[in-house]
Amino acid sequence: MSADRKLHIGLSLTATWLKGPRPHPDEARSEGMGPVEFYVGLAQAAERAKLDFVFRPDYLVMNQAMVAHSPTQVGLDPTMLLATIARETEKIGLVTTASTTFNPPYVVARQIQSLHWISKGRAGWNIVTSIEGAENFGNEPMPAPEVRYRKAAEFTGLVRQLWASYPGVSSASVQAVDHAGEFFHVKGPLNVPGHEAGPPPLFQAGASEIGRSFAASVADATFAAMPEIGDGIELRADLRNRAERQGRSANAVRVLPGLYFFLARTREEAWKLHERAHAHLTRERRVEALKTVLGLDVGALTPGSRVTADLLPASDHPVRSRTHAELLRRFIAANSPTVEEVLARPEVVGSAHWVSVGTVDDVLNDIVERFEAGALDGFIALPGGSVSSMDLFFEELVPELVRRGLFRSEYEGSTLREHLGIR
Ligand SMILES: Cc1cc2nc3c(=O)[nH]c(=O)nc-3n(C[C@H](O)[C@H](O)[C@H](O)COP(=O)(O)O)c2cc1C
Repeated sequence: MSADRKLHIGLSLTATWLKGPRPHPDEARSEGMGPVEFYVGLAQAAERAKLDFVFRPDYLVMNQAMVAHSPTQVGLDPTMLLATIARETEKIGLVTTASTTFNPPYVVARQIQSLHWISKGRAGWNIVTSIEGAENFGNEPMPAPEVRYRKAAEFTGLVRQLWASYPGVSSASVQAVDHAGEFFHVKGPLNVPGHEAGPPPLFQAGASEIGRSFAASVADATFAAMPEIGDGIELRADLRNRAERQGRSANAVRVLPGLYFFLARTREEAWKLHERAHAHLTRERRVEALKTVLGLDVGALTPGSRVTADLLPASDHPVRSRTHAELLRRFIAANSPTVEEVLARPEVVGSAHWVSVGTVDDVLNDIVERFEAGALDGFIALPGGSVSSMDLFFEELVPELVRRGLFRSEYEGSTLREHLGIR
């Protein structure tokens, strides 16, 4: 590892302790705060810690089960939320999510370029092809993954062309794009000029075969699901290869896994936070979740029995996300885990993210191990458990990364491109 290699750290504007059925004592601190104030405060704390960016995932459906548990989990439009945060912060990057399956490219190009102006060059776009939500956009079912990725590639190319169509406020070279493709017909140019910061960086999520090739062709960073260190080493090496094969630098795609952390003064307390965050997931719900993730029904298996590779459905069995299904298939094939172990996996109880539970030292060692092993270029912190866990992250864990020379102590620039080192 080169001596000056530093982590890129983002913070997801989500808060799982608000999801539980029972209030956690820490919730008193967020009580009475609307979701907007809460997230503004979180973004300001992230900026004080000099993080690269805040990040907001997005789904265009209502998760009724989650809302029943926690009325505070409102699905605010991410770009509007980040535009508000832009006015309350100065340096931190703002990465919004927009689906290429459901939106018109002209609107997305314009909204994100607007966020870029509002934030003075701090916007980023997380490109998702989405796994659900078709019912809110017509009568057709979700398109097949291949179609979604073809559309994503055309959509993204078009957005970049639109961004380039009106290069700058004083630019004389405004040009139509005259795009006529499989999915879109757009004349252009865009009516918002480019910002002197350069175009917004592109993030991407989805790591199936086509997802990876799409990421390698265009993304500056990938939001990765990385439950095990080996998953990350494999993904990062593969993306570096693919980027080079596409004529880009091996470093072009920064691999940033979600790090779902639960921090406390003792391991016991941290595990209690973790347990509490998953307490609402009964065995029945986990069995159902596993069916959705993998198409595998373990409901009839006796406790303690092992789930072996021969029980796995055929690899072309339709699933919601091939990224998540593939991660779990690999884990089962390598470990023949017990039913209980499978039902506790991050792919089943969450979004397949790397879970790190313990003291500041424990989580820190976990991060350093993965960084040194080449599994990641940074991470997107997903705060789990409680406000006090998040406080430990900002007040102790990040400062220790700085002390070890693995993270910046001050911003060197004021745009997201600068924070990510994109030339
Ligand atoms: C880590 C991760 C985060 C994702 N976040 C979102 C999201 O916020 N919104 C969304 O609509 N889809 C999200 N997706 C879904 C992907 O965009 C994609 O549709 C899905 O993974 C299927 O692609 P695949 O076949 O490459 O796995 C996410 C996927 C992954 C792996």
